[in-house]
Amino acid sequence: MARVVIEGPGGNGIGRSIASMLHLQLLESPRKSFPDGESDVVISADNAAVDSLVNGNEVIIVQSAYPMQDKRLHELYILADDMRSRGAGRITAVIPYLAYARQNRRFEGKANAVSVNTVLKMLNSAGVTELVVVAPHNFSSLSQFNGTVKVVDAIGPLAREISGKAGNPFVLAPDKGAWRVGEKFSGFLGCSYASIDKRRDPVNGDVVILNAPEVSLEGMDVVIVDDMISSGGTVAQAARFAYQKGARSVVAAAAHLLMVDGAYEKLKSAGVREVYGTNTIPQERAKVVDISGSIADAIKEMGRKGVRHPL
Ligand code: R5P
Repeated sequence: MARVVIEGPGGNGIGRSIASMLHLQLLESPRKSFPDGESDVVISADNAAVDSLVNGNEVIIVQSAYPMQDKRLHELYILADDMRSRGAGRITAVIPYLAYARQNRRFEGKANAVSVNTVLKMLNSAGVTELVVVAPHNFSSLSQFNGTVKVVDAIGPLAREISGKAGNPFVLAPDKGAWRVGEKFSGFLGCSYASIDKRRDPVNGDVVILNAPEVSLEGMDVVIVDDMISSGGTVAQAARFAYQKGARSVVAAAAHLLMVDGAYEKLKSAGVREVYGTNTIPQERAKVVDISGSIADAIKEMGRKGVRHPL
């Protein structure tokens, strides 16, 4: 079965890079909306050309789901369903940033939807049977997807970027959920690590440290690592902790940089000197590592069944 790549409206150029790296045919679905705001999901080629490229072949749709999570996901469902109606033999969704991954359980005192389950079911309903995701917030919820899942690790590429820049590195995971990321990151940097136990106030979203590790960071160049930075509250709290413990410098690294609500300013005022991330989300102010090569490698390996857990 031949493979064709579609750079979706939220592809961030990753689809183009993958097609070029794997020498695959590329189709583009540019970002377009009707005057009333509905998505105008189109492919920049004529119908007959699209049909002949897609029919009986594997279609790899690359679509990251941030910013404008709901719109990007909806475009992805529409594109996948359209590919199915054109006779695609297999539909693979590459979602560099999987939105709603943090809504993976019912939270205490809150009658919330487990939204990530719905997102995964919607992908299946649209005909997607193979899924590639970069550094998902939660691995176990991916089992809700009925098909093959491949997880792309961002830790190696980020650690390689930072390696050598931190003279006396120490890795700090800013919450318990990030300790395995911290452990693996410290392995790449060949240094020690520790993790903080944090709690987020369910009402105002403020982050407080519950249990801090007993460490001296005197003279250390601390690298705070997490899967994502959103408001920056978690990393800012960890950075202040690191300086209290004597850190010489602090940088932060995460696969996904959402950077909402003045997050850069928050990190800067907490003394974070540099923010490293990947291009799963468009960035202007961070040091960006291109994750396309790792995704291309994952696509090459696709075909074996089951969730791949890189940690
Ligand atoms: C939470 O469990 C995640 O791993 C991140 O720590 C969190 O989403 C970061 O959010 P914020 O930047 O708003 O503190």
